[in-house]
Amino acid sequence: MSLLAIRDLTRRFGGLVAVDGVSFDVHEGTIKAVIGPNGAGKSTLFNLMTGFDRPDAGAVSFDGRDIVGMRPHKVVAAGISRTFQNTQLFEELTALENVLVGMHTRLRTGLVGGALRMPWTVAEERRALERASYLLRLVGAEQYAQTHAADIPHGMRRLLEIARALAAEPRLLLLDEPAAGLNNFETQSLSKTLYKIRDEGVTLVVVEHDMGLVMEVSEEIVVIDQGRKIAEGPPLLIQKDAAVIEAYLGEEGAYV
Ligand SMILES: Nc1ncnc2c1ncn2[C@@H]1O[C@H](COP(=O)(O)OP(=O)(O)OP(=O)(O)O)[C@@H](O)[C@H]1O
Ligand SMILES: [Mg+2]
Repeated sequence: MSLLAIRDLTRRFGGLVAVDGVSFDVHEGTIKAVIGPNGAGKSTLFNLMTGFDRPDAGAVSFDGRDIVGMRPHKVVAAGISRTFQNTQLFEELTALENVLVGMHTRLRTGLVGGALRMPWTVAEERRALERASYLLRLVGAEQYAQTHAADIPHGMRRLLEIARALAAEPRLLLLDEPAAGLNNFETQSLSKTLYKIRDEGVTLVVVEHDMGLVMEVSEEIVVIDQGRKIAEGPPLLIQKDAAVIEAYLGEEGAYV
């Protein structure tokens, strides 16, 4: 079943068409990758799917409901969480606290700052702490639970961001270059984490330049070039697609 349906999505910045009539579906319970050269329009696409930007034309439907024009926090409440290309953590808070803040949309108080000072019942607080610890374990960041985000190494920060996004209990998780700056070992552990998240019933869309990771984890790949979708299909077909090789993967197969 199609959880997310993107139809003819278009976003112009002045004369530049950053996203140009893009359509694709994301099926529930799958991992889909979005790839394409720098400036292809991938992050813009994510912004259009999460209320951070509005399209000039086209539709984004999530679970049958049009979400274009919804504010970002409403999109989160509807069931879509995301991470950003540049990590956006609360530097003065610990890893555990960052995850707790990510829960605020699911808890009674609505304000971010309130998440740490909220009138939780003892039972709610215990459940929230248990869930936050669980999510830190899920991404492999539990040893940093009590460390301030500012003092956590880069690779772990990226994993922590995923835990924080999961705290909102999304049905769909959008990750913008989760492997950027990770070493090989961290990238391997990231791919296992993505499978674990998928196995928990969360559908994933991953924008990523690391082709090893993309080819390993994704069931389907959408290729974007200069705002346009130029190919879509399973990894093995994408690797052989002439338009993709020309636009992105390189004659030498530089990325695969
Ligand atoms: N707010 C904006 N105003 C003007 N131009 C923008 C804006 N946001 C993005 N762009 C332009 O739109 C195009 C697509 O940018 P986008 O960030 O979506 O690319 P990307 O595929 O995520 O690239 P990368 O792989 O480098 O992250 C680029 O040419 C970019 O300069
Ligand atoms: Mg980007």
